[in-house]
Amino acid sequence: MMKKIYLDYAATTPVDSRVVKAMLPYFSEKFGNTMSLHSFGQEAKEALEESREQVSNLMGAKSNEIIFTSSATESNNLVLKGVALADKEKGNHLIISQIEHPCIMESAKWLETQGFEITRLPVDKYGLIDPEEVKKAIKKNTILVSIIHASNEIGTIEPIEEIGKICREKRVYFHTDAAQSFGKVPIDVNKMNIDLLTASSHKMYGPKGAACLFVREGTKIEPLLHGGGHEAGLRSSTVNVGAIVGFAEACKICKKEMEKEAQREIKLRDKLIKGVLEKIPNSYLNGHPKKRLPNNANFSFSFVEGESLVIQLDLMGIAASTGSACSSAKLEPSHVLLATGLKHEQAHGSLRLTLGRWTKEGDINYLLKVLPEVIKKLRKISAIKK
Ligand SMILES: Cc1ncc(COP(=O)(O)O)c(C=O)c1O
Repeated sequence: MMKKIYLDYAATTPVDSRVVKAMLPYFSEKFGNTMSLHSFGQEAKEALEESREQVSNLMGAKSNEIIFTSSATESNNLVLKGVALADKEKGNHLIISQIEHPCIMESAKWLETQGFEITRLPVDKYGLIDPEEVKKAIKKNTILVSIIHASNEIGTIEPIEEIGKICREKRVYFHTDAAQSFGKVPIDVNKMNIDLLTASSHKMYGPKGAACLFVREGTKIEPLLHGGGHEAGLRSSTVNVGAIVGFAEACKICKKEMEKEAQREIKLRDKLIKGVLEKIPNSYLNGHPKKRLPNNANFSFSFVEGESLVIQLDLMGIAASTGSACSSAKLEPSHVLLATGLKHEQAHGSLRLTLGRWTKEGDINYLLKVLPEVIKKLRKISAIKK
């Protein structure tokens, strides 16, 4: 039987069996509605509050600063639109970067149709934002700076602590989308001067359908969903207790294992990067060589098309991605790669390989054997010529 290797952990992760075990009782036994007064409801409410504590622990927040949502997409929509609505007396200017996830980019675009002004900060060739540029872009009417913590495409980790410091000095709310970094690298919302932070369970071995938004005490934000007043009035909807219990268990495991796991993944990632660049002519690493997520490798290959590459690799049993999974349905090149200065052809020939908890050295060896052959074959039949 053909080997099957998953190298797309940035798209989503399998749920850890320890997480499944923790969740199971909350579907048929402890199924209560957290708003019910009876014992079933109270049992569910207790699990919810314990989960809040566990999630807050992984980022150094207070438990009452965690608002559970259904996805990072929802959290990011809530931040941009919720702060814009709450703070419109103060101003109508928001700052994001050119390499945000589509849920930030599209929310910002929508805010423009509602009369808000958006500044999109550029990045350097590694995808890094210069904190000085943030400082320069802040105006009297700026109400929010939202910068991704680590790129879902190229893995570059942004200087969040410096940016947070600037925002604090300028008294502007600072949000970071940590969907890819939470549970992989240490985060402390106080040390990093973060007012709002997005995290998502299915990127860290928890189930889909659970995520959170950290909202620092005292931050003004309007809800987008009105109803029964769940989640401190910020997100009405009957609470998905099973998924949240899973998210919390995933956080608990990451807290315990993160450091060792990151070291293990960095070793494999660096072996992968070195191997690809050595074995494949005209191959380039995208993103920062050092300031990058432990599990991310992103390459451009000249004279190759990313979509064909992903299909050919899939035929060889390797699951990878070109650009990000969320945008791979579109045929436009990745906005992130373009922002780093890549030409359209280079951005089209990109491959994202993301490692995870179950990636073994043998998987990397297999990839390093298969990928050069696949590239050679594709270059032979490629319409994109030197
Ligand atoms: C950085 C980042 N933000 C937001 C999202 C959206 O996450 P979700 O699938 O939880 O909506 C993703 C998913 O790829 C992401 O990588």
